[in-house]
Amino acid sequence: MNRGEGSVGREFLRVSLEDLAEAMEARQSEYANPDEPLKFKIYRGRPRRPLTTRVPRALREVEAFDGTALSTLLRYGYGLSRQEFDTNGTWPYHRMVASARCLFGVQLYVVLPEGVHHYDAPHHELVLLRDGDHRQLLAGATGTAGASAEAVFVLSGLFSKTAYIYRDYAYRLCTQEAGLLTGNLDLVARSMGLRAHVHHQFLDEPVDKLLGLDRDEEPALVVLALHLADADLQRDPVPRTAAALAATIDPISPTVVPSGLKVAQACPTLTKVNRASLRTDTATFAAAEPVAPAVPDTEPLPLPPVEAPQIDLAQVLRERDSGPGLFKPVASQVDGIELWARLARIRTGVTSDSVPAGAPVPLEIYLTVGDLTGIPAGCYRLDQHTGALHPVLRADADTDADTDAVTAIERVTIPGPVFRDMNAIVHLVGDRDWAFDTFGDRGYRVLNQEAGLLAHRVCVAAAAQGMSGRIVNAYHAEGVRAALGLADPRHAPLFQILLARTGPGGRVIVPVEPEGVE
Ligand SMILES: Cc1cc2nc3c(=O)[nH]c(=O)nc-3n(C[C@H](O)[C@H](O)[C@H](O)COP(=O)(O)O)c2cc1C
Repeated sequence: MNRGEGSVGREFLRVSLEDLAEAMEARQSEYANPDEPLKFKIYRGRPRRPLTTRVPRALREVEAFDGTALSTLLRYGYGLSRQEFDTNGTWPYHRMVASARCLFGVQLYVVLPEGVHHYDAPHHELVLLRDGDHRQLLAGATGTAGASAEAVFVLSGLFSKTAYIYRDYAYRLCTQEAGLLTGNLDLVARSMGLRAHVHHQFLDEPVDKLLGLDRDEEPALVVLALHLADADLQRDPVPRTAAALAATIDPISPTVVPSGLKVAQACPTLTKVNRASLRTDTATFAAAEPVAPAVPDTEPLPLPPVEAPQIDLAQVLRERDSGPGLFKPVASQVDGIELWARLARIRTGVTSDSVPAGAPVPLEIYLTVGDLTGIPAGCYRLDQHTGALHPVLRADADTDADTDAVTAIERVTIPGPVFRDMNAIVHLVGDRDWAFDTFGDRGYRVLNQEAGLLAHRVCVAAAAQGMSGRIVNAYHAEGVRAALGLADPRHAPLFQILLARTGPGGRVIVPVEPEGVE
């Protein structure tokens, strides 16, 4: 990357992570807001392809990527999971992944041999946007060559869904959530014997044009290629440019029910950061491994030689939740060793274009233990190589020597969640220098999306043990860095996830169950 590349994204990371006052300055009320968009993106006048609602209640390997497999992947990938009834009616629909205030800015597109589609989750249908097989165009745009994928998913950020409340800050939320959804699609695909290749880097213009998307209002954020088995994917030896590839397809402009604000007008900073991140030449694509924070020089707890029990992913996804509006733990016994065993392996098995082949997900895991059986309370850095937990040396310990580790995090979190009886807190720590030095301004997306992918895995690990996993963005990053003992400013806590058993709170909430074939 050239000097200066990445400065726009870097500055936005500083504001959106480390200057909450500035990031929230333009925040709007969610109530009686004239810019509130429809709950779902609705296309009009396009052919629809219903998907079978008779999907298996348990996920298993498929022999062929047929209609049932596609329906299963979409249903457990991004389908509705629960409907909530409250007096305001503001957060009614929950899905298999979390979304801030259930706004679900991220849209999912499905590119199959027969055409390009939008996934209409409430009707569980595909809406045809363009005929024909365009998988090779997406291979070209991601700089890859080799066998065609069975399907290619494209995740976009429909910013107006989130920006009507959060304005420019919607860019952080949508990129985090594109990561969460990528993480879930990858998990579900793997459980079905499929392999997903995550592309943060692609030529934006041809991808957006293929789907008929406006790059300012709803850009593609992630391209996810799905193969039936381990496909031998190579880097395309021919460098391609966005303009040349975009010229090979006609524009489309399918009719969408108008809704929400114009992001390019209402969110100047978001628009600037997003435009700076666009890629025009596959020759600029890169991969590298981040620099991890030093492992603290403390006596580690060695990972006990146990295997976490296999999970029934479909059931766990149906049960996954973030807890009620007011996050309030219920005192409970949770097996810490089982959680630890899962976290020790949680960064493996993902194929992403941001890191060299075989490298783990590029975020470090910090575990703050409140009440878990088998692990003493305290804050630990998980060593990816050994699985050991190293007690951290808190930078705030001089002033706060008597404060326990959970309270240290509570003090740097905006008041809201209840921390009493918290089982654990997970922080995902990224390397901003790696992101911006390797990917330029695209680094903002890459950091948040990789972190989101891992955050979803943490939420699934929590749900497997009956805990809610609550992603909370409302924390002071500098304070968290001190509590985690992070000395180098390059290392940033990108996600904070509260883990605890919770009750329903004041909600009436009913599951939206797949019909099930057995
Ligand atoms: C990116 C992101 C940021 C979030 N930030 C906060 C937050 O700052 N405070 C909070 O209480 N909840 C936060 N949440 C939690 C969501 O409101 C919650 O996930 C949503 O209501 C969906 O609930 P469910 O996962 O139970 O379906 C956040 C969720 C996401 C995905």
